[in-house]
Amino acid sequence: MKIALALIASFFSVVLITENNGPVLQDPDQVLQIQKGIDNNLFAEDNEKCLVCHGEPYFELADTATGVIRNRLMCDDYHVDRDEFYQSNHWSFACTDCHSYDFEIFPHPVSTRLEEPYHCNDCHGYDEQYARYQFEEIQIEYEESVHAEIDGFSCWKCHDPHSYEINIRNSTSLGKTILYDNNICLECHANFDNFQLLTDKEEIKVIDSHGWLPNQSAHFTSVRCIECHTGINESILVAHKLLPKDKAVKRCTECHSSESRLLATLYKFQSKEFRADVGFINGIILNQSYVIGANRNIILNVLSFIIFAGVILVIVVHLFFRIIRRA
Ligand code: HEC
Ligand code: HEC
Ligand code: HEC
Ligand code: HEC
Ligand code: HEC
Ligand code: HEC
Ligand code: HEC
Repeated sequence: MKIALALIASFFSVVLITENNGPVLQDPDQVLQIQKGIDNNLFAEDNEKCLVCHGEPYFELADTATGVIRNRLMCDDYHVDRDEFYQSNHWSFACTDCHSYDFEIFPHPVSTRLEEPYHCNDCHGYDEQYARYQFEEIQIEYEESVHAEIDGFSCWKCHDPHSYEINIRNSTSLGKTILYDNNICLECHANFDNFQLLTDKEEIKVIDSHGWLPNQSAHFTSVRCIECHTGINESILVAHKLLPKDKAVKRCTECHSSESRLLATLYKFQSKEFRADVGFINGIILNQSYVIGANRNIILNVLSFIIFAGVILVIVVHLFFRIIRRA
């Protein structure tokens, strides 16, 4: 009995240890030299020329000839949030680094509005400083994805030019990262206004098309859409090749098993260090959630084997004495 209690106690202490062992994803290269924020942006004042209109819920429409000024609503789709912008990856930019100076004219001339935006790789491609992100490989993956076939689609559709912030690489809360990443997809797949700009399809049915998945909300808060919708690519942190729907993961055991694909996707950054953590197979997943089938414990497995063997032994001994007595 004492031995059993000691074993149980040690098991729980193992659980406590793994729970305190929260993942630290901080990329050492990633320590920012300059603090982000409006105060450190050299063009903040210039940007206000745009943000007087684009950063406010309404703007002043002025007729210089007559001096008449009227307030007009700034439509949400054209709204740029200052706080988000100055915390984003491109926080240090002037609006006119990416947009034509002709936008200083209002009403904005049509020609500027039809300007082709820069591609990510115009700035990031083959640049040593950004080599760890592997923009070139991502570009190749993107070109093979289902979205690349859609006219008007680009990297910017998922990476909002005014708010995109690298996430999983620096994440201290996987829950928040999952939400951030999934919201990227849901921006279109749960918002018909945005969706219909790019397709003739007449409805979105993301809930129906995942009807086969039990407890959708638990799944959608514990895994990202891309876990099931992209192929695995060992060389980049976030796979970008979105496959057609009939190639999406449907087999439960792809995640609910000790060979869980989550180790090569969602937990890629952490899995290497934590894989063999204190007895747990895939202990890293257990820090975040309990995935049936993926989180087995070696100590527990041995323990249950000992108990099982003990029970058999008792039965055998019992039988042995019964047979001896009878004889
Ligand atoms: C007087 C207010 C005002 C100012 C100042 C202003 N904008 Fe705009 N901008 C608007 C309004 C209103 C719209 C949306 C309606 C429209 O297109 O006329 C718009 C639309 C845009 C668009 C979307 C064009 C499209 O069709 O996709 C961009 C990009 C833009 N502005 C950039 C800028 C930049 C950059 C600056 C600063 C250099 C700036 N704007 C200054 C009011 C303004
Ligand atoms: C890193 C480049 C970049 C910077 C910096 C940038 N923009 Fe943009 N902006 C874009 C791109 C690219 C688009 C088109 C997005 C698309 O096609 O989905 C865009 C679109 C817009 C639009 C149209 C509505 C929308 O959100 O799609 C407005 C308005 C706008 N920008 C205003 C601004 C203002 C104001 C600033 C400065 C505070 C700014 N932009 C800074 C790249 C940038
Ligand atoms: C006009 C040039 C330009 C374009 C276009 C551009 N970027 Fe950037 N990007 C930069 C610069 C410069 C920085 C560094 C900003 C800083 O920290 O001051 C940066 C920062 C980043 C970072 C953060 C890097 C780090 O280590 O902090 C990421 C991620 C990123 N960009 C992704 C993208 C993606 C994705 C696209 C396309 C959707 C894109 N960029 C388009 C110039 C650009
Ligand atoms: C269908 C949506 C989608 C498209 C299109 C897309 N991305 Fe991404 N991308 C994501 C998501 C989701 C992430 C994960 C964001 C996070 O958690 O940091 C990501 C992450 C990234 C990262 C950061 C990876 C890292 O190692 O930290 C880079 C760089 C990037 N994307 C570049 C691109 C480029 C370049 C393109 C176009 C060729 C592109 N993306 C198109 C969804 C997309
Ligand atoms: C557990 C795996 C899994 C997750 C997580 C998942 N999907 Fe799917 N998804 C699938 C499978 C499998 C299909 C194909 C279903 C079928 O055809 O019966 C599918 C279908 C789709 C389709 C095509 C549906 C249609 O009828 O047009 C879209 C769009 C889609 N998913 C988007 C998403 C988005 C957005 C998320 C995140 C919020 C997500 N998926 C999360 C597995 C997944
Ligand atoms: C800017 C809008 C937008 C964003 C953001 C977006 N999608 Fe899509 N997606 C579309 C459109 C439009 C289609 C094409 C629908 C059609 O016409 O069949 C599509 C198609 C798909 C399909 C179905 C392909 C098929 O075989 O029918 C899947 C799966 C999918 N997207 C998943 C995702 C995932 C996962 C993300 C996030 C990483 C995402 N999408 C982000 C607009 C978007
Ligand atoms: C992309 C990986 C993935 C796939 C595929 C997947 N699951 Fe899960 N599942 C998870 C994760 C992660 C959790 C943990 C949720 C949590 O944190 O509670 C989970 C939780 C569950 C739960 C417990 C939900 C609850 O109520 O707490 C059940 C039941 C389940 N999955 C069944 C299934 C079945 C059945 C399938 C196949 C049809 C499936 N899963 C496919 C990743 C997956």
